[in-house]
Amino acid sequence: MFIAFEGGDGAGKSTQLQALVSWLRTQGREVVATREPGGTELGCTIRDLLLHGGEVAARAEALLFAADRAQHVATLVRPALQRGAVVVTDRYIDSSVAYQGAGRALAPQEILDLSHWATRGLVPDLTVLLDVDPDTGRARRSGDDRMEAAGGEFHARVRAHFVSLAQAHPQRYLVLDAGAAPESIAQAVRERVQELLGKRSGAGAEQSPGGPGMP
Ligand code: TYD
Repeated sequence: MFIAFEGGDGAGKSTQLQALVSWLRTQGREVVATREPGGTELGCTIRDLLLHGGEVAARAEALLFAADRAQHVATLVRPALQRGAVVVTDRYIDSSVAYQGAGRALAPQEILDLSHWATRGLVPDLTVLLDVDPDTGRARRSGDDRMEAAGGEFHARVRAHFVSLAQAHPQRYLVLDAGAAPESIAQAVRERVQELLGKRSGAGAEQSPGGPGMP
C-alpha cells in the first residue's frame, strides 16, 4: 500500500505522517517513511538545489522535482512496495501539480504527465490532504525556504489546486482540516487506512506491487 500526505507548507504533514507510521508499526507492518524532495541520496542533492540554491527557472524547477521523484520511485518506493511494505511519503505528484502547475502557472496537465512519465504511472492508494489556510501555515513554519517565500497569492493557488485534485478523485483522497486537533486528525487517518487494509485482506489477494496505474 502506498500512502501520500499532501498539503500546504505548515499543514502538519510530518507530525501526522509520524503518527500513522507509529500506529502501522504497532500493527506489525513493515513501513517505509519517506519524503519528497529528498527521499534518496540523489534526491538530497536535488532538494538542496531546489530549496536552498539560487534562482531556478520554473521549467527547471518542474524537471528537478520530477527527477527527484523518478529516482525516489525507482530506487526506494517500488522496491519497498514489491516486498510488501507500506510506503508513506511526505509529498508526491500532487505537490508538483499544485506548486509548479497552479503556483508557478505552468500547465497542470503537463506537470502531471511529466510525473506520470517519471514514475511510470505509480499512483498512491490513498492521499491524505491536510488542508491549511496559507496564513495559518506561514505562522506555523520556522523559516522560509525558496518555495515558502513565494508569496500569498502563490500559496492560495496551491491550496485551491490541492482541493480540486481531491475533489476530482474522492475515492483516493481523505481531506482533513489541518486546523483540527492533531489527535482527531490522526484518528481519522487511522480509520481510513484501517478500512483500506481491511478491504485488501478481505479481497484475499494483494494488488500487484506498485501496480496501480502502471501502464
Ligand atoms: P519541505 O521542507 O519538505 O516542506 P514541507 O515540510 O512543508 O513538506 O519542502 C518542500 C517544498 O517543496 C515545499 O514548499 C513544497 C515544495 N514542493 C514543490 O514545489 N513541488 C514538489 O513536487 C514537491 C515534492 C515539493
